Amino acid sequence: MNKIEEIVSQHYAHGSLGATILAALGDTTGQTPQALLERLAGIDEFHVGGRAATAELAAQLQLSPGLSVLDIGCGLGGTARFLAVAHGCDVTGIDITAEYVETGNILNAKLGLQERISLRCASALELPFPPARFDRATMLHVGMNIPDKAALFTQIARVLKPVGVLAVYDVMRLGDGPLAYPVPWAADEATSFLDTPAGYRGALAAAGMEVVVESNQREMALDFFAKVRERMAQAAPPPLGLHVLMGAEARQKLANLAAGVEAGVIAPVRMLARRNM
Ligand SMILES: C[S@@+](CC[C@H](N)C(=O)[O-])C[C@H]1O[C@@H](n2cnc3c(N)ncnc32)[C@H](O)[C@@H]1O
Repeated sequence: MNKIEEIVSQHYAHGSLGATILAALGDTTGQTPQALLERLAGIDEFHVGGRAATAELAAQLQLSPGLSVLDIGCGLGGTARFLAVAHGCDVTGIDITAEYVETGNILNAKLGLQERISLRCASALELPFPPARFDRATMLHVGMNIPDKAALFTQIARVLKPVGVLAVYDVMRLGDGPLAYPVPWAADEATSFLDTPAGYRGALAAAGMEVVVESNQREMALDFFAKVRERMAQAAPPPLGLHVLMGAEARQKLANLAAGVEAGVIAPVRMLARRNM
């Protein structure tokens, strides 16, 4: 791991995540993988829009059972579990935060998905796979932690099959102006590497990938933040929510993210990129 990755993985580390989630799940005897997936949704999807955003992104990937998907920066493996359960894909996830990978693999076993999903500790900048290994790749809210986007996409293009498709869903810089920290992905500017959609397109092109669909998710994000605020005002947080991952500063991180989107400085953007032959 390089120095930035060390700081980033410390930022995300919790300390007792597995035990916390297992305690909240309680006895799961007799619960189907679908039911458990639903129960985990609040903590499993560490990005704006939650499970609905994952489902929408997956719907654009023309998935079918048995396709191999790489999820880069998989976190707890929520996207991997969704792709395996809802689409029957074989999913490999990589992440630099060991605690997420360990906890994610425990949850996969609990859902009986250990044959279909494998999560491992690795850097997105050194993907430990042979060329042309995957049919699809997904990357949700990860690029903000990685300064060298061209190196990142070169790695991803290498492990994608020639007609492979990558779905990126990152928070990107949309306008000038300051962003207050902390935000969910970084305590301060030292590990926050926001780029513009044009910057992403350029880095993808340099890696031999062409953006075929691009969608600014600002409106969805504003709606999502409004609903989160409403929930926070009405009730105590549920035992399995993103506040568990974001820790003591969860409210401030969310407020800064929402303020940045409201001010037009940042927005979550989805891109589908195809590997050129
Ligand atoms: C905001 S979380 C998103 C997790 C997951 N994709 C999701 O949407 O639920 C960002 C994740 O990216 C991972 N990450 C950041 N930099 C990385 C890198 N260079 N290589 C691999 N993973 C990285 C972090 O450890 C963290 O789990």
